[in-house]
Amino acid sequence: MATKRKPLISGNWKMHHNHFEAIQVVQKLAYLLGGEDYDAVDVSVHPPFTDIRSVQTTLFDQKKCEIALGAQNCHWEEKGAFTGEVSPAFLTKLDVAYVIVGHSERREYFFESNEIVNTKVKAVFTHGMTPIMCVGETLEEREAGTTEAKVDNQVRDGLAGVKPDQVASMVIAYEPIWAIGTGKTATSEDAQAVCAMIRAVTAEVAGADAAAAVRIQYGGSVKPANAKELMGMADIDGALVGGASLDPDEFAKIVQYRNLPD
Ligand code: PGA
Repeated sequence: MATKRKPLISGNWKMHHNHFEAIQVVQKLAYLLGGEDYDAVDVSVHPPFTDIRSVQTTLFDQKKCEIALGAQNCHWEEKGAFTGEVSPAFLTKLDVAYVIVGHSERREYFFESNEIVNTKVKAVFTHGMTPIMCVGETLEEREAGTTEAKVDNQVRDGLAGVKPDQVASMVIAYEPIWAIGTGKTATSEDAQAVCAMIRAVTAEVAGADAAAAVRIQYGGSVKPANAKELMGMADIDGALVGGASLDPDEFAKIVQYRNLPD
């Protein structure tokens, strides 16, 4: 059997925790996680933009802490007249390693198309960071049997023109929209089936080597109660965690999923 990729477990805080709260959360998280955890799993936290500098300095001060800093979004241009936007170059300067791109909330509320997502994926790479590109279907699409078509399209458009070695190093997050923040989780088998399909489409777009290396996260109501089973699936290489990442105790349990009961 092929060796599984090192999992990446990411906490997407969305619009929660001001910078004072953020400092406390990462201090606690750094205290709860240790060397064995970082050996087994890569970990990232994605605070709101206004917290990033505080989280950067807090992480820097923690001993033996390997939590990576992430952002939730960025603009595709380096600079210019884009009121209210954040340049990927500014994030690189703050030691941001991962940027979530095309989260379903960005697609739905801020009208981000597959083409915009693709442009942002490339911008994140241009600035030396790793994109976490989100894809996933709505409940209506799942019920209509169009999950595969929707996700296939998002993956192909999102990866268009991205070099195979870049695809190999990036992260794709499969997040069924109906499972986000609802407490409903896809069954491990359903999540695995879509993640396997994403890997197959990636192979068509970027080649077998890139598809074997790309990390595919599952996201949507991941919590300590379901993390171990999801993480046990062959094509699931991590989790993008929203609600349960706001509490450092809960998030640490997910990172330490290996120790959870079956
Ligand atoms: P959730 O969010 O874990 O609260 O469902 C996941 C996400 O949107 O990334």
